[in-house]
Amino acid sequence: MSFQLIDGKEIAKQVRNELKAEVNRLREHGLVPGLAVILVGNHPASESYVRGKIRASEEVGIHSELIRLSETAREEELLAEVQRLNRDPNIHGILVQLPLPAHMDPARVIAVIDPAKDVDGFTPLNTGNMMIGQDALKPCTPVGIIELLKRADISVAGKHVVVVGRSNIVGKPVSILLQQENATVTMCHSRTKDLAYHTRQADILVAAVGRAEMITADHVKEGVVVIDVGVNRREDGKLVGDVRFDEVAPLASAITPVPGGVGPMTIAMLLANTVTAAKRIHGLD
Ligand code: GUN
Repeated sequence: MSFQLIDGKEIAKQVRNELKAEVNRLREHGLVPGLAVILVGNHPASESYVRGKIRASEEVGIHSELIRLSETAREEELLAEVQRLNRDPNIHGILVQLPLPAHMDPARVIAVIDPAKDVDGFTPLNTGNMMIGQDALKPCTPVGIIELLKRADISVAGKHVVVVGRSNIVGKPVSILLQQENATVTMCHSRTKDLAYHTRQADILVAAVGRAEMITADHVKEGVVVIDVGVNRREDGKLVGDVRFDEVAPLASAITPVPGGVGPMTIAMLLANTVTAAKRIHGLD
């Protein structure tokens, strides 16, 4: 079977171009959207993600600030930094890169972010509003997945989507958004018995487990659409997803690559959320 390669890199570029035009219009009216990214410590993968976020912001004309705290900073210092940014009129989006060092409590930190500036969509208010279908800033990877499917002309209404992984960042929110798009959603996780039985029922499979190449040919039915959210470093140093691409792609009707699939869309949605937040804060939405 020949499969459609869902080119997240190209689709994200289109989104960024649209955002660039919108940011230019806002700038003409004196509004420069601003994003602050806080990185605590120097986790290598986080360093690379944060660099990507700052570079993409600059590219579309969003003002960006990177705030670095040391690995040993106290949680109070981080909370004070978030509160300072909550008050900063030039900043419309605040992102605290996760994971945080073990001595910090991510839930306590996230709860301090002003929900109007919560461009990750992680605060309890935005999470709750998303859950009940009300207006909210929504998490970037789940929205990126929905947008990727839309722009690749893959409809989800009435389809059986199986989500593997129940994280707060991807699995849980994407299952909610997919249901709102009228999909029938099954959630699987590390304690699911006979995972392959469930994943073989999927018309669309979303793999968000964080385990290198764990989804194999045995886990899918022919014609499946595969969205691979994983970014894992294999022992030989190669960057791979949660899906064994060479085995699964020939069975799929469409599949995202890693890298170049979901990752670029996550960043594009962060920029979109920053523009939305800036407009709302200034009463333009
Ligand atoms: N770490 C991995 N993914 C994310 C994300 O989407 N947002 C933040 N803040 N940290 C992350």
